Amino acid sequence: MRIPLIAGNWKLYKTIAESVALVNELKPLVENSAGVQIVVAPVFTALSRVFDATEGSQIKLAAQDCYWEEEGAFTGEVAPKLLKDAGCSYVIIGHSERRQYFGETDVTVNKKTKAAVAAGLDAIVCVGESLAERESEQTFSVIEKQIQGGLAGLSAEAFSHVVIAYEPVWAIGTGKTASDAQAQEVHAFIRQLVVRLFGQAVADSVRILYGGSVKPENVKGLMSQPDIDGALVGGASLKAESFAAICSFNS
Ligand code: PGA
Repeated sequence: MRIPLIAGNWKLYKTIAESVALVNELKPLVENSAGVQIVVAPVFTALSRVFDATEGSQIKLAAQDCYWEEEGAFTGEVAPKLLKDAGCSYVIIGHSERRQYFGETDVTVNKKTKAAVAAGLDAIVCVGESLAERESEQTFSVIEKQIQGGLAGLSAEAFSHVVIAYEPVWAIGTGKTASDAQAQEVHAFIRQLVVRLFGQAVADSVRILYGGSVKPENVKGLMSQPDIDGALVGGASLKAESFAAICSFNS
């Protein structure tokens, strides 16, 4: 039984006050959303205050990235245990924007994922093909490489703290969503890959989220696919009303 997970990735948007206000607006709207886990990922500077604001709600906190060392002379980095300290339960790792603009690779995704899980966080590990890769029929090989590299050397126990997010790069922030069938095809492929890497039981329980222009209008169709267990939502998570509507996809 996989509990659906809806995560809002706020990217580089909102001040502390705006972030707290968004959570306060969201809280009553998702109060009765049963059978779904809700996560929000504000910018680093807002984490602690947003955590305080989530008190008394079922909303959990995620960071958008982390480093892999616990401490040291690493100017500008944030360690997983400090995210935990700020109230995070989750951390997003390997988002395509980090791969595209900040030199994230499968090797760094792997180090970060291991460090995050070791610190007691659940890691939302992102994978996805570009438009050129899809058009040249490399989708499956790209995803396979990202998953094998990003999750290399994890034990089955460590992997039980991983959530995979499939986000086709061409669908992120573009308004173009993968069709339900296109998304399901890749999700099923990912689950089969997990069977090979970690066994059937682990594959049956891992949650695979879809991301890329998820909106209140398309979430139901996506969530009705057998291998889609949730959503990673960017733009539509910045407004309480649309994010709450996505969270109540099953009502
Ligand atoms: P989007 O972003 O919903 O705005 O396409 C998704 C993401 O980048 O996680």
